[in-house]
This record gives sequence, C-alpha cells and structure tokens, in this order.
Amino acid sequence: MTATDPLLEVDDLAVHFPITSGVLFERTVGHVRAVDGVSLRVHRGETYGLVGESGCGKSTLGRAILRLVDPTSGSVLFDGTDVATLKGEPLRRMRRRFQMVFQDPLSSLDPRQSVESLLTEGLRAHGLSKGGEADHARLTELMDAVGLPAGALRRYPHEFSGGQRQRIGIARALCVEPDLIVADEPVSALDVSVQAQVLNLLSRLQRELGLTYLVIAHDLAVVRHVSDRVGVMYLGGIVEEAPAGELYSDPLHPYTRALLSAVPVPDPQVEDDRERILLTGDLPSPAAPPSGCRFHTRCPWRQADRCDTERPELRVPDGAGPEHRVACHHAEAIRDGRITRHEVAPEAVDQSVGTAPAAPEHGGSLTEFLGR
Ligand SMILES: Nc1ncnc2c1ncn2[C@@H]1O[C@H](COP(=O)(O)OP(=O)(O)O)[C@@H](O)[C@H]1O
Ligand code: SF4
Ligand SMILES: [Mg+2]
Repeated sequence: MTATDPLLEVDDLAVHFPITSGVLFERTVGHVRAVDGVSLRVHRGETYGLVGESGCGKSTLGRAILRLVDPTSGSVLFDGTDVATLKGEPLRRMRRRFQMVFQDPLSSLDPRQSVESLLTEGLRAHGLSKGGEADHARLTELMDAVGLPAGALRRYPHEFSGGQRQRIGIARALCVEPDLIVADEPVSALDVSVQAQVLNLLSRLQRELGLTYLVIAHDLAVVRHVSDRVGVMYLGGIVEEAPAGELYSDPLHPYTRALLSAVPVPDPQVEDDRERILLTGDLPSPAAPPSGCRFHTRCPWRQADRCDTERPELRVPDGAGPEHRVACHHAEAIRDGRITRHEVAPEAVDQSVGTAPAAPEHGGSLTEFLGR
C-alpha cells in the first residue's frame, strides 16, 4: 500500500433522490441528499472503513461508486478511469473488477438454484466460464478458500447458517477475481462470535489475493477490526477521516467523539472514567439538512460564529497527523480544551419531507467479544 497509488478516487460526489408528490401530475417537491459532497481515496491493497448512523448515506455512497445508482454530480475514478463515462461492454468489463458483498447476499438469489449454479452464473455473466470440469475445479478451490467443504456446491442457500451464507456471498464476489470489494454491513446480520470469523476471513483473503476493500458498517467495532483508514459519515458527508488507530485514540470531530463515547470499554476502571457524550435531538432529515455545519443542531461544542452559517471543509488540523482530516471549524480549540462542552438546546428539525430509516436491530457488541 502506498499513499500515492489510489485504486479508487471519489471527488465531490453527490446522490440526490427526488421526492415526488401528486397522483396525476407528479411533481418534484424536494430532494433527499443521501450523499452530498463526498471525496475520498482508497489505496491499492488497503481497507477503508466507512462508519456512521443508519440513514447517513453509506449504502448510497457504496452503490454510487459501483454505478448501481447514478450520481447527481461529482466523479468516481476507478484505476484512473471515470466510471460515469462507461457504457456497454467497457462498463461490463469494469464491473467485473469491483464487486459488492451485502448484509445477506443470498436473500436476493433464486432459492431453487444450487450454490454451484449460482456461482457458475457469475462466471458466465463476466465471460469467465471455461466449461463444466474447469469451472467445477475452480469453484471447489474457491470453497476451500472461503472455508467451506466442496460438498457445499451441491447444496441450496436455505441449507446454510448465516455465517456460511456470508462465506458463499464472499465466494460469489471473489469468483470473478475483482480488485475492489465493497462490503456493505457484511456481518451486521450475524451473531457476534460468527462476525469475528467472517471478518478474519476477509482479512486473510485480502492478504492472499491483494484485494482492496471498502467496508461499510454502522458498528464502530467492526470497522476498527478490519480498517487501515476510517471515514466517519454524518448526513451525507464525511466529517472525519484518519488512520484507524489515530481515529480511535484521538478523535477530533465532536460527532466522532460522541460515537466513540457510546462504545463500552471492557476495563471497569476505564469504563467508569471515560467521557460520555450523549447526543440530544433527532438526526435531521437528509431532505432538509441543517445550514452550515450539518452537525450544529446536535453539537455540544457549537459556537456562535460560523457553525450554523459555513459548512466546514475536511482539513488537516494543526498538530494532527498528515492523514487526519476533520470537518470542524473549531477542532483545535476543542482538542486543546479552549472551548468546552455545553448543553444543547433542542432545536426544531424539519422532518416534513423524507425521513431517515430506523437503525437496524443488532445484537451484542463485537468490542466485548474481541475483548478490546
Ligand atoms: N432509492 C432511494 N430513493 C429515495 N431515498 C433513498 C433511496 N435510497 C436511500 N434513500 C435515502 O437516502 C438516505 C441514505 O440512505 P442509505 O444510503 O441507505 O443510508 P445508510 O446505508 O447509511 O443507512 C436515507 O434517508 C434513505 O431513506
Ligand atoms: S463546526 Fe461547530 S457545530 Fe460543527 S462540529 Fe465543529 S464545533 Fe460543532
Ligand atoms: Mg446501509
């Protein structure tokens, strides 16, 4: 991995979904700004973790990168090629190189097809099928790589446990030999003990195959476990980005600090002493995002100047590492204790157009499981 060799370059990307009203004459009455000005780089061989509350735009960003949804503006360069300009055969060839792994990758697939036929379909779709024997040998090897017995090929999706289904989902993504895998909540549906196994499998495959990952999760522990760098999203934008260790040890954005303060620490002494920041107020609607800094309606450090008028750019704060960027006007003053936390008065949030979906249910904490 080198800082000068990005496989994926996203610049000022926006995805706005129109909100329509009317039965006979449909009119656009607003837009859900699901992704609103995101720039990021993912280097070859690296894992970039994207974290944020449900509804902040993570999945839409992942889908826009893979051209599963068309961006409203901005650009996505994959290995130097602008993905938005591709059509037909060149787009199909490019699609082989980036694959997606979903929360439950088999739920959308035909339950009457065996695993072998599902995987062979993937090979055929990308012109990689070499016929019966050769395909079977290759898929058997793939089963071994994802830790399943060769016999799994003859079975059907419903015969597998959640963890095994995710292994098949990973095999399905891998069978076309991609460069980049976008994994959207890859372990959110799994028991905590199984989560670690699947994450370890992803890490091992990355080392062996030189893969590049964009891992999306609402769970900070999942992202921390696998990521080289982490980006924190809030209401369609990235508010902080840093090498994983630095983000967790020195979070600078008030939103990141609040997210981290909600993660339990196994050491009781540390647990008693740690800073807790409870966010008050609802997550505003991405159809009517707050002016200025989008976090100002909930920020315990909000200041009278700039916070509600000027949207902060991602920048390297004074004294931070060169890869640590934060979108907060007052990051240095907050870090150095020159401004302190205060009560946040509840502020009316316009929820009249578009609503963010509720957070998905999830079980125990991976942090607890991993004992960190
Ligand atoms: N196809 C769509 N049409 C309209 N709104 C959408 C669509 N997909 C997502 N949204 C909205 O965009 C916002 C971001 O959603 P999403 O990207 O799924 O967030 P996350 O993955 O972080 O939970 C949400 O408010 C969601 O309701
Ligand atoms: S810019 Fe202001 S409102 Fe936004 S995070 Fe920083 S202090 Fe809080
Ligand atoms: Mg999502």
